[in-house]
Order: sequence, then structure tokens, then C-alpha cells
Amino acid sequence: MATSSGLAAVVLAAGKGTRMKSRRAKLLHEACGRPLGWYPVKRALEAGASPVVVVVGHQADEVRAALTAALPGAPLRFAVQAEQLGTAHAVLAAKEALAAHRGRIAILSGDTPLLRVETLRAVADAGVGAALALATMTLAAPNGYGRVVRDGRGRPARVVEERDASDAERAIREVNAGLYCADAAFLWEALARVGSSNAQREFYLTDLVAIAAAGPGAVAVPVPAEEAAGVNDREELARAARILTARTASALMKAGVTIEDPARFDCDEGVEIGADTVIEPDVRLRGRTRVGAGCRIGQGSILQDAVLADDVTVRPYTVMEDARVGRGAVLGPFARLRPGTDLAEDVHVGNFVETKKARLGKGAKANHLTYLGDAEIGERVNVGAGTITCNYDGEKKHPTRIGDGAFIGSDSILVAPIEIGAGAYVGAGSVVTKAVPPGALAVGRAQQVNKEGWVAARRARAQRKE
Ligand code: UD1
Ligand code: CA
Repeated sequence: MATSSGLAAVVLAAGKGTRMKSRRAKLLHEACGRPLGWYPVKRALEAGASPVVVVVGHQADEVRAALTAALPGAPLRFAVQAEQLGTAHAVLAAKEALAAHRGRIAILSGDTPLLRVETLRAVADAGVGAALALATMTLAAPNGYGRVVRDGRGRPARVVEERDASDAERAIREVNAGLYCADAAFLWEALARVGSSNAQREFYLTDLVAIAAAGPGAVAVPVPAEEAAGVNDREELARAARILTARTASALMKAGVTIEDPARFDCDEGVEIGADTVIEPDVRLRGRTRVGAGCRIGQGSILQDAVLADDVTVRPYTVMEDARVGRGAVLGPFARLRPGTDLAEDVHVGNFVETKKARLGKGAKANHLTYLGDAEIGERVNVGAGTITCNYDGEKKHPTRIGDGAFIGSDSILVAPIEIGAGAYVGAGSVVTKAVPPGALAVGRAQQVNKEGWVAARRARAQRKE
């Protein structure tokens, strides 16, 4: 195996997360559309770490599958820690996967989604030429964290876990943030010396600090407290998601996006939005969504993997998934664009209209109460209110094709497979089962019969019976 130098990373993700009170491992719970464990792994990749070894244990297969799916092609490896015997034991589980690595190894906790890449880089930089760099933060209420004990010259001497701490040590407010950068040679040698004689009978990674202090020395790197805060329960999960969203919103606003109420905005990291787009309250933007410039996204709309060109108007409560929308289109309110929807420029898809695998040509309009599935619709077509493509015969899906400039009267039923020629008209209320030639009028409904004087005659009949 070739050796690598530079920076590698280990992300500790084997724990159960007991305080989540969940059947699912903690790191599978989502914040802003991504599993919690995605964040530190992504940051390690952004900092240039390669490989990134994720130590899995609890629900190992699910955690591995979720991270692999969310980070396709990344230099990820997985190591299994079958029994969770402590953080030092967890890092040792990654030893084999890093056997060829010379240089620095950053160690991150899987449950710290708020860590920023700059902070990780600062800790990794402090690790250059040092045996061990340790991120610390100073908290008003340090409860639960390991306390950083410094020696007479102010250098980190050891970390003591709260359960093992004396009263004097508990009063220390500088704590271990759970983020490290160690020299590989030092790390493996020191880990072999870590024992488990402590309150929890676990192998503590924090023992590395005392081992380094007795030899080459450890460096402490102060980091912002917000970033190293771990997510342990659902309240902290919600808080972390809020902070992540607030950061995304802030970056978007700086780039020229108007967010009417950032506290009522939900947006995944990586969503792109052009300048002068206005986001009304309660909008959710998920996954690989991209919104162009000069758009308006109406209140309560949900966009998942949607791609919008410039100047699109999305009126309130529109829901779309895996849809493409051309420039100047107007959608909603209450439109539903399902996967495979592809709308050209200036298309209107209005109130209570549902589309699925449907392409609408430039300027086509379907403004009210319509279902368009497996449909190819030409330019400037007008689809009247209540039109339904009957694309499913109970076994198979069939296509509907409508040529440019056709006019589909209200309440038409188009039984697929069906083709309606360019410029054709379909009379309102028709059930169309046969192809309509270009320029023809198709009327497929019962003839209307008028019975003159019928109402008065019935009234007279009723009076005679009394
Ligand atoms: C740890 C530190 C503590 C520090 C705190 C910061 C130790 C002994 N203590 O405490 O000094 O202030 O983090 O958040 O390291 N994990 C495994 N396998 C195990 C045990 C843990 O993969 O056998 C993983 C967990 O899933 C988690 C991470 O390691 O992602 C940290 O473990 P956790 O038990 O939360 O450590 P803390 O008690 O928070
Ligand atoms: Ca923790």
C-alpha cells in the first residue's frame, strides 16, 4: 500500500446516543435534510483530509449507508468498533484503515454539526510539528465536559472527565471540545498505553493529553464554544438545525437574497439562490435545489431538488420535487410539481394543478384543478380547468401528447395513450379516446336535450296528486 502524508481524519460515530431516546442511532437523525454525522465528515473533507475514516458501531450498516449515499465519491472509509469501550478504543479501531498514513490525523466527534471548516483547519494547522493539538473552549457552565488542567507554565497537562474530577478541577471552565489533531506516530504509540482505570472503566482518548504533556507536549487551541457543542438530545438537535439554517440565511442575504423572516426559513446547506430573489416566510428549500435570480418564492412553499431559472414566481403553498422550471414561469398557489416535471419559459401552472413526468412547452398554461402525468405538451397550449390525463390503466402508464397551440376545453378527460394535434380544439367536458388531428375540433360528450316548459308541467302534476 502506498503511504500518504498530510492530513487524514477520524470521525467517531459508533455511539448510540442514549439521550435521543430513539430506535435510530443518533447520527442518523437529520438536521437541515442531512444526517447529523454528515456534517463533521463533510468538514473534514473540506479541510482536505484524506482519507476520512468513520468509526461506526451502533447501527453500523445504516450509518455507513447514509453517509456513503450523502457523499458519493468522497475518500471515505469505515472502521467498525463492535463494542463501545471508549473514545480511545474507538480511534484504535481506525488504526488499520490508516496504517499507511504518515503525518497528521484530525479526530472529530460525529455529533458536532456546528464545527466550521476554518476552526478545523486552525486545529489541524496547530498540529503541524506538534504531537497533539487539542481544541478547548471556555464555558460559563462546563457541566458534562472534560476539564482542561494546565501546568504551572500554562501548558495543557491533562484532561479530567467530570466524573473523575476533584471539586477544584470541576471549577475549571476551560473544557475539552472533543476535537484533536495528532501526529500519527505519536497517536498509535500513545493509544497503546491508554488504560481504563477511571470512573466509567472506559478507554479515554483524553488520556493522550497527559501522555503528550509528559513527553513532546500538547498544544491547546481555543475554539468558539458554539461550534463544538455536541448534539445529545432532540432539543439540542433542533437548536443545531436552527443555527445551521441561520448561517445559511446569513450567507444568502449577504449575497443579495431577500429573506423576509430568517427565523421562518428552512434551507439545506448547498442550496443556491440568485440575487434579488425574495423568499417569503415558512419556505423550505431542500437537497440540490437551485433558484435563479429575481424569483419570488411564496409563503409555505417546499422545493426539493428543484431547479428554477431566473424570474420565476412561485405563489404560496406550492410543493415541488425534482422539477425544472423555465424563466418567467408562474406557479401556484397550491401547485404540486412532482418528479420529472419540466416547464419551459413563461409556463403557468396554477391552483391545484398536479404535474408528474410532464413537459410543458413555452407559454403553455394549466391554471386550475388539473392532473398532467406522462404528458408532453407543446408551446402555447391552453389546458382548461379540470382537465385530467388518464395515464394509468391499472397496469401500465401511457403517454399523452398535445401539439403546439392546442386548446383543451375544461373538464376534459384525455385517455392515454392519446395524441392531440397542433392547433386542435377539444370541446369542454369531452372524454377523448381517439387521436385528434391537427386543427380539428373533438367533442366527445352526450348531446344536450332541452325540454321546453318541463318545470311548470312537473309542478302541475304534483298539485293534482295533493
Ligand atoms: C468526550 C470527552 C470529553 C469532552 C467531550 C466533548 C472523552 C473520554 N471525553 O466526552 O473530555 O469534553 O467529549 O464533547 O473522550 N464514541 C465512539 N465509541 C465509543 C465512545 C464514544 O465512537 O466507544 C463516539 C460517540 O459516538 C461520540 C464521540 O465518540 O460521537 C464522543 O463520545 P461521548 O461519549 O459523547 O463523549 P463525551 O462524554 O461527550
Ligand atoms: Ca458527547
